[in-house]
Amino acid sequence: MTLAESLNILSRYDLDHAGEAQRMHWVAEALRRGYQDRARYLGDPDFVSIPMQRLLSRAYADQRAASIQRDNATPSDALGDPIEVRQGDNTTHFSIVDREGNRVAATLSINTLFGACFVAGKTGVLLNNEMDDFAVSTTAVNSYGLIGSQANLIGPGKRPLSSMSPTFVEDKRGVLVLGTPGGSRIISMVLLAILGYASHPVVDLDHLLMAPRYHHQYLPDRIEVEPGGFTSDVLDDLQLRGHIVQFAQRKWGNMQMVWVDKSTGEVTAASDPRGQGSGMAWY
Ligand code: DON
Repeated sequence: MTLAESLNILSRYDLDHAGEAQRMHWVAEALRRGYQDRARYLGDPDFVSIPMQRLLSRAYADQRAASIQRDNATPSDALGDPIEVRQGDNTTHFSIVDREGNRVAATLSINTLFGACFVAGKTGVLLNNEMDDFAVSTTAVNSYGLIGSQANLIGPGKRPLSSMSPTFVEDKRGVLVLGTPGGSRIISMVLLAILGYASHPVVDLDHLLMAPRYHHQYLPDRIEVEPGGFTSDVLDDLQLRGHIVQFAQRKWGNMQMVWVDKSTGEVTAASDPRGQGSGMAWY
């Protein structure tokens, strides 16, 4: 694990063309971080749960490499606790394209943390609490603050509403497969991604994913904005127009995208920097 993680971090640097001290510096900084994670996470897997996939992902190596300075050593003390590896407590989204061009956008949910908190027999399958996606009355809100009407009241044989929005966007340039968890904010996130895709002639998945998010869901009557995403000029302007602007506690979403460029046939994949996951293309 430590070897692979250190190599992953080092894959960002041009070691072949670096001077000896520069090369040693990068190697030492990668090892410093790899060994820190060894101390923090590794042990007998019969006793501890090791977030293996996450630790070996490119996204995690990017996070770890972000604190490496070109010329200065990072004192080990200054690294602090290793970056928290989030196990994820969300709905999950996969975006997939195979070599024949078949596509899947799949969002899967048990709704809230631990779903119904009930496992079906010995199957290990945790049952969902998607009943929360119904309106229990015309005045109550669900876990995501959504209200509903008669149309979404619980009834025999009825399926609840869902905000899950697995999406294909297709135009002359190519095909974008996308989706995200996020409860009621899924719809606005996917909408913003589609608008971003449509308004940039050059498709840049990282740019689409990194764009700051905002959300309005009728009630509560306010625009929720991601912290740090917008200038005070823009927020003041919205307030002058009569919007109530509220900063969210933290950023939201975990969008996964695959893009097939129709002109070159090239496939690229990317994962939301806010969440867990990674985007990869194999040919
Ligand atoms: O279908 C829905 O709208 C909800 N059950 C989705 C829940 C969800 O995305 C939770 N994850 N963050």
